[in-house]
Amino acid sequence: MKNAGFVPRLGADVLKLLNPQPGERVLDLGAGEGFLGEQIRDAGAHVVCVDASVEQITAAKARGLDGRVVDGRELEFEAEFDAVFSNAALHWMAPLDSVFGGVARALKPGGRFVAEMGGAGNVKAVQTALYDALKRRDLDGAAFDPWTFPGVDQINELLAGAGFGVESAALIDRPTEIPGDIEPWLDIMAAPFFTALSVEQRAAMVNEVREQCAPILLGQDGIWRVDYVRMRFVAVKDVAGKDEAGA
Ligand code: BEZ
Repeated sequence: MKNAGFVPRLGADVLKLLNPQPGERVLDLGAGEGFLGEQIRDAGAHVVCVDASVEQITAAKARGLDGRVVDGRELEFEAEFDAVFSNAALHWMAPLDSVFGGVARALKPGGRFVAEMGGAGNVKAVQTALYDALKRRDLDGAAFDPWTFPGVDQINELLAGAGFGVESAALIDRPTEIPGDIEPWLDIMAAPFFTALSVEQRAAMVNEVREQCAPILLGQDGIWRVDYVRMRFVAVKDVAGKDEAGA
């Protein structure tokens, strides 16, 4: 696996839920290289792609997209989008309440927030193996864990707190085939867990994680299927929103 290119290709369902319309202004939050942003544009919408990574935004711009390097917790848009879309990105952005506040501000009244992210139980087998391996080294996995995987109650609370009405929010099991071995996946997706380790310690920990996960995630066909769980939701900015109500 040279990159995480398989991730956006799994965004077809949430893109369908967005159902972008010609002439709409859509913010793609955590847009990566703009794979899905391009499809939103091809539907006739004007899309603004934001991502914290300079490299990803450079790639999005190479697709001819309006790309901007922006931290999801520091959105400064004011009531200018019909929809905010996000796929496989929000779980990297903590705390979510400040992200959702910025999303609410970015939307026009009645605008929609359509997103998919890791949900409660996402990559649990891998996360457990990572925590266990760090614990054997007297390190606390929570201190290195960059992920937020909310359940339905938590996402409802966060969205309501930011002034959204929730139309739907659900957890979806989606075991996901990854290309090749789990090591490159760990390199890209779980890098923060390895930051305190030397090169040798890292190699040993990767082997431990592989051994612990293989009985659960490695099929007899030699394919790794990581235990992804998606949180997919649609929320609408309250027309009589909390700002107007002074709450
Ligand atoms: C995901 O749900 O897309 C994901 C989150 C963290 C690590 C890997 C994948």
